[in-house]
Amino acid sequence: MARRKLVVGNWKMHGIGSDLAEIRAIAEAAAANPGVDAGLCVPATLIERAVREVPGFPIGAQDVHFADKGAHTGCVCTAMLTDAGATMVIVGHSERREAQHESDEEVRQKAGAALDAGLLTILCVGESLAVRESGAAVETVVRQLGQSLPRDRDVSRLAIAYEPIWAIGTGKIPTTDDIAAMHSAIRHELLDAFGPAGESIRILYGGSVKASNAAEIFDVADVDGALVGGASLNAADFVPIIQAAALKG
Ligand code: PGA
Repeated sequence: MARRKLVVGNWKMHGIGSDLAEIRAIAEAAAANPGVDAGLCVPATLIERAVREVPGFPIGAQDVHFADKGAHTGCVCTAMLTDAGATMVIVGHSERREAQHESDEEVRQKAGAALDAGLLTILCVGESLAVRESGAAVETVVRQLGQSLPRDRDVSRLAIAYEPIWAIGTGKIPTTDDIAAMHSAIRHELLDAFGPAGESIRILYGGSVKASNAAEIFDVADVDGALVGGASLNAADFVPIIQAAALKG
């Protein structure tokens, strides 16, 4: 099945007002590549200004609380994100699963709340280096995904990001065979969970995606785009990745 490629930048804890010009440059380049869906997940403090700067270009958040309001100091809920103009959110990034001790169950609730709010929801999964070296990467990620997937929901706005933890920010990437095996296993799990609707869910690869390796990664079966950290911080690095996706569209 042909799925439109989706390339999303994850700015992590980078980005203040003086970076809006970079966001504008990225959005303009994305508009010149209409065959690919692109967007940026910026710090919460920058969402509203980014949306004003580049109306129509998808701007998202990097996390959300699952509750709709309440006594949750420091957290934001889906209504706050949509009120700020966000149209996407990342949930379950490994940096949050590790540093904030987010469980699969918490990620599942976040993903459900985000889908209910109509947000394009990018649910991240991925294995540690120890798990990869033990040979249990596929079974571990499939189990993590199964426990993190929201059930009984419209999943038309769900995307999965496979991000091996050991590939994030390290310059290392799995072999294309390993990426293919993982994405195929994820696709099977999605079909199991959602039936035919699982066929249209996009599966992104993330972890050290750069202009120099993007084309090769986008050629892998069942790779429907990328979640890009470091190389999304400026247009010079990010735009060639969007262009590589457009060429494979
Ligand atoms: P990276 O990060 O592209 O800098 O490796 C990817 C991510 O964490 O989403």
